[in-house]
Amino acid sequence: MHVHGPETCGEYIYLPFSLQRQAASTGQAFPLEWAAVQCREIKTMSEKNLQIQSLLKEDSTLEIALVEVPVPSPGADEVVVRVDAAPINPSDLGLLFGAADMRTATVGGHDDRPVITAQVPENGMRMMAGRVGQPLAVGNEGAGLVVAAGESEAAQALLGRTVGVFGGEMYSRYRRANVMQCLPLHEGTTAVQGASCFVNPMTALGMVETMRMEDHAALVHTAAASNLGQMLNRICLADGVPLVNIVRKPEQEKILADLGAAHVVNSSADDFMAALTAALQKTGATLAFDAIGGGRLVSHILSAMESVAVANMSEYSRYGSAVHKQVYIYGALDLAPTTLQRSFGFAWGVGGWLLPNFLQRAGTERMLRMRQRVADEITTTFASHYSREVSLAEALTLEAMGGYGRQATGEKYLIRPQ
Ligand SMILES: NC(=O)c1ccc[n+]([C@@H]2O[C@H](COP(=O)([O-])OP(=O)(O)OC[C@H]3O[C@@H](n4cnc5c(N)ncnc54)[C@H](OP(=O)(O)O)[C@@H]3O)[C@@H](O)[C@H]2O)c1
Repeated sequence: MHVHGPETCGEYIYLPFSLQRQAASTGQAFPLEWAAVQCREIKTMSEKNLQIQSLLKEDSTLEIALVEVPVPSPGADEVVVRVDAAPINPSDLGLLFGAADMRTATVGGHDDRPVITAQVPENGMRMMAGRVGQPLAVGNEGAGLVVAAGESEAAQALLGRTVGVFGGEMYSRYRRANVMQCLPLHEGTTAVQGASCFVNPMTALGMVETMRMEDHAALVHTAAASNLGQMLNRICLADGVPLVNIVRKPEQEKILADLGAAHVVNSSADDFMAALTAALQKTGATLAFDAIGGGRLVSHILSAMESVAVANMSEYSRYGSAVHKQVYIYGALDLAPTTLQRSFGFAWGVGGWLLPNFLQRAGTERMLRMRQRVADEITTTFASHYSREVSLAEALTLEAMGGYGRQATGEKYLIRPQ
């Protein structure tokens, strides 16, 4: 059992229910401060909760602000996590920036409570009509110390543990979460090490699981020098899955080559199609995950897969090969239309791929196995690196927004809400 006194849990004083019950049955004395909170597990000491919220207003402006909200208290199967670290991922930017034109952003409020205001173009207002007037809390994932827990055994078991949490609202000082949203990290793993333990690790693992579920033998990945791409590369090396990495810059080729990647091709190089086709021939990859979305890259990948399949056919068919080629678009790094030049026969598919939808399809057993692997390998296979740490208020400066808004290789920001 973990029992933390006031000195170890900062501004919170709490006493696990199990200890409360023990105290009640044995009449055992506890320090005065502890006794003061036996009626509740958590007592705030003039502590405030702060949260980043994004609000789209009727007047076509987006307001991103650091606002004060109540410190949550846990239900029976819930815990309260003191959020110590939360990454800013591309998937957070959609909710944070809405469809606003961030070139029009101005800063108001004051240093401790910044308010960013930006104009939203007319088509953006149409796309985002469903969120007008609702202040939305941002931040898909993060990690921190469980400072309060509800009555259930599962919740009590997390008290005093450092956990990763998924489910939104993580750009807050305190976040209430159901026990199922928490991934207990191993003893010694810090919140910074565990902050990115859901979105990218589970997605990278989900790609390999999808490959197995859909009977493909190898993978193609685009924007492959990303944080997620580096994780996928490590998983594939460990699991013996052939992987073709597509990047767009020579320095990204080097990043992946230094990580031991066997197949790295550069979409900006003159020999791109030839190099891609050769890598597909070697690996037999017929499944690709594309983070970019816009442009012709999806089409090029399908064409290269088809030319490999056709080259392996013993007999000509005017319909092309019968080998099924699949691309899942799982990101929106380029918002331009996806253009398909259909020169790849008739056995192909292009679809969307989203982690929560995949997890539903994968089922509980597979998901728990994936989560356990992430917890076990969070400092190796699933390690993330951050170019900068910022406070909640610092995250709302124009300079920081310009930095993480670029979504550039090796430029991931980490929010430290405490
Ligand atoms: N569908 C899902 O469930 C799901 C889950 C998790 C992540 N994702 C997606 O996974 C992707 C990677 O996330 P991350 O956190 O690993 O990102 P990251 O570390 O921030 O890296 C982003 C990468 O994208 C590249 N990039 C940006 N714009 C590009 C463009 N227009 N064309 C080609 N490359 C471009 C960057 O390269 P440069 O330096 O050259 O710009 C960089 O290597 C994101 O798109 C994210 O939305 C999706």
